[in-house]
Amino acid sequence: MRDELLSGYPGVGVDFGTTNTSVAVAGEHALRVLEIDPHNDAPTSLPSLLYMERNGNRTVGRQAADLYIQRNTGRQVRMRRVRINRLIERVEGGEIDKEFMPREGLIDPEVRYGVQASVLVEKQSPGRLFHSLKTNLSDRNFVNTKVFGQPYQMEELVSYILEPVRRAIENTLGAVPDTVIFGRPVVFPGDPRDDDFAQDRLATAARLAGFKEVVFFYEPVAACLEYAVTLRDRQRILVADIGGGTCDVCVMEFEAASDVRSRLQGSRILSVAGVAVAGNAIDREILRTVVFPRLGSRAVYGPSRLPMPASLYENLLDWQRMYTLNTEEMLHWLAAAEVSCDQPEGLRALQRVIRFNLGYRLAREAELAKKRLSADSETVLELIFDGLNIKEPLDRQKFAHLIEEELESIEECLAEAEDRAGITPAQIDQVLITGGSSLVPAIRDLLARRYGANRMHSRHAFTSVATGLAIAARFLTG
Ligand SMILES: Nc1ncnc2c1ncn2[C@@H]1O[C@H](COP(=O)(O)OP(=O)(O)OP(=O)(O)O)[C@@H](O)[C@H]1O
Ligand SMILES: [Mg+2]
Repeated sequence: MRDELLSGYPGVGVDFGTTNTSVAVAGEHALRVLEIDPHNDAPTSLPSLLYMERNGNRTVGRQAADLYIQRNTGRQVRMRRVRINRLIERVEGGEIDKEFMPREGLIDPEVRYGVQASVLVEKQSPGRLFHSLKTNLSDRNFVNTKVFGQPYQMEELVSYILEPVRRAIENTLGAVPDTVIFGRPVVFPGDPRDDDFAQDRLATAARLAGFKEVVFFYEPVAACLEYAVTLRDRQRILVADIGGGTCDVCVMEFEAASDVRSRLQGSRILSVAGVAVAGNAIDREILRTVVFPRLGSRAVYGPSRLPMPASLYENLLDWQRMYTLNTEEMLHWLAAAEVSCDQPEGLRALQRVIRFNLGYRLAREAELAKKRLSADSETVLELIFDGLNIKEPLDRQKFAHLIEEELESIEECLAEAEDRAGITPAQIDQVLITGGSSLVPAIRDLLARRYGANRMHSRHAFTSVATGLAIAARFLTG
């Protein structure tokens, strides 16, 4: 339904997040965060998830995760080696198949070796789930990916997640304004030299989804505006936006002013800083230190008492690719290691996780346990599944201890923002905290220790960035 209160050159802000996406509209008489996922607990957040099925169906948001779990876990994964019948002229990291000689005239005579490439494919997979795509935007190696034989570019995948956002704007305003402000982290995860490339890809994805002109704005700066426009006096504000993929910080100064426009015009960004450490990194730490030991990560095997290969567990962290572990060779190797190792039950559990594709379930349980610890002082991380029985108690103190490295990185990022602004913590009037990971008690404690609890303000963890972007779009563009 059209919302008349939003008429009069409405500004639109889109926050494409690593974990959640949200959109807000600032009109003459109202400011609204739009509902974009009716299936999510909070309909104003669309989980940044895409599920693509063999038959071409696409699902985004909460339903994408539900469908993936329903259709993909508990299913025995069967891998098959398939010849792709293509001559590869250069081989990086792999054995050249000397028996295979290229047929004459088929390839450049300069090429001395040919290989017949084969790939591992999962024959029965009903669909693929994509998550945290924002994290891969700067990855130049991720150009396209084949989904059931059909290549999709990164920009297309992201655009599918942005489509329901564009539709919600159209339903509310009748049309999408010519210029929309998108948020961006201070630094996209990955190589900082590829930062512009990541932003360009996000802009292309937005255009594919039906947006015209896209202007980018730092996410923490947007979160700062959202709060700053509610004040009148001179302020120096630090914002810590700690989400799923990145921790983003900014320091801003505002002159005293009584209306929004002059308040924004009298503002200055003193510094920004960012690091790719947030909720996803915390979840991985829980898996590494709490769950993997139950899957034999600390076991030793064979007569030489060799440690289990760390690379195997690192592969498990990437649950989208963990199915590549599901080969007869790997399972045979694990079965042999099980016989000679000191923790056979751990290796048995690991084989079940691999065979039944439980990587995503594990990652989700780790995330849920983390979230429960924001409300309760202790919890049990559980994964009970046909022969797998993982139950690990976790309390806040142990949790804070196991994420010490992540806490340190966040604190360094805060210090960097202060240094760049040339100020000390004592010279900051207010500290705003936002982003889902700002709900982690150990992170709040860190901020309270550094700045004092009385200067801290929690803004809406999942929508303050989109709201700030909409305010910027209304007052700073056009
Ligand atoms: N109650 C909670 N306690 C702890 N962590 C939480 C809670 N709720 C959500 N999170 C975590 O917050 C993160 C998502 O936060 P948010 O939606 O702000 O990120 P995002 O904006 O998508 O990511 P980014 O800004 O890094 O691109 C996830 O890692 C999630 O597990
Ligand atoms: Mg965010």
